[in-house]
Amino acid sequence: MDKPPPPRAALIVHAGAWAIPDDEREAHRAGCTAAIEAGWEVLKTGGRALDAIVTAIRIMEDDFSLNAGRGSVLNLDGRVELDAGIMDGSDLSAGGVAAVTRYKHPIDGAERVRTSRHVLLVGSGADRYLETHGIHPCEPEDLITEREVERLKELLAKGPQKGPGTDFGMDLPGDTVGAVAIDQTGNIAAGASTGGVAGKMPGRMGDTAIPGSGYFADNLAGGVSCTGWGEPILRMGLARRVADLLRDNNATDAAWIAIQELESRFKGKGGVIVIGRDGSIGFSYNTPAMALAYMDEEMEMPFIGGGI
Ligand code: GLY
Repeated sequence: MDKPPPPRAALIVHAGAWAIPDDEREAHRAGCTAAIEAGWEVLKTGGRALDAIVTAIRIMEDDFSLNAGRGSVLNLDGRVELDAGIMDGSDLSAGGVAAVTRYKHPIDGAERVRTSRHVLLVGSGADRYLETHGIHPCEPEDLITEREVERLKELLAKGPQKGPGTDFGMDLPGDTVGAVAIDQTGNIAAGASTGGVAGKMPGRMGDTAIPGSGYFADNLAGGVSCTGWGEPILRMGLARRVADLLRDNNATDAAWIAIQELESRFKGKGGVIVIGRDGSIGFSYNTPAMALAYMDEEMEMPFIGGGI
């Protein structure tokens, strides 16, 4: 029997699925472009899938225009609470942090947790663990931008019926950044990072820190990173569902089927980016737009798109 061809390295990133306004599209394009270029540099020089996605996600966390790290949406108390998660498909190790308040790069915290004996740390305990395990903290106020202060004021002014917590408004940046990669050895990694949903209840955790919901990676199936309204994604276990679908479907079909199910069975809105174990790339979303970019060894330059 012929040996299967070696896997081809590939990387896909996203910067959220929602009704991205015209005046924010260019910033989303720029964020995705910077992330794909930096992450691809790691992969094309033989680097690990894990390092490529951490590199890409860190860049998007640094980008104030995106809902991750500094510039994230505010909760009802006017504070930033961040969730992030990461998974290594070679050994199925996963790490997540949730509701952390003192880190510009929560993906670093998630990666630190992944290599510990824990899977998920939350709140003040997570903040404390990361500080004592080599992750440099910032002041909580350093994560807050004037734009988000204004956005929260506008949201609260709408009142309880249309205000926070009633629904996932497509006009709110209630999304996430994320990345999935396969490296030249066939190892797959996936991760995500978010400020969650604007005007969320303090202590609210979405899907992004949870393996199987916001992200999943398994070298025997593929890798997935999700974005969108966290509650339905959590109930569905969206990332794990995509990984299961990858056993019998290519990346494009697995992504599409899962998003159809998210909508029809869970009334959810969002998107997924996917890489199959053969390096095939897929994505799907049921929101007006999803900022994304991808690159593989057969492409001369990255694709940047998703309606932006
Ligand atoms: N998907 C991000 C969140 O709902 O928190």
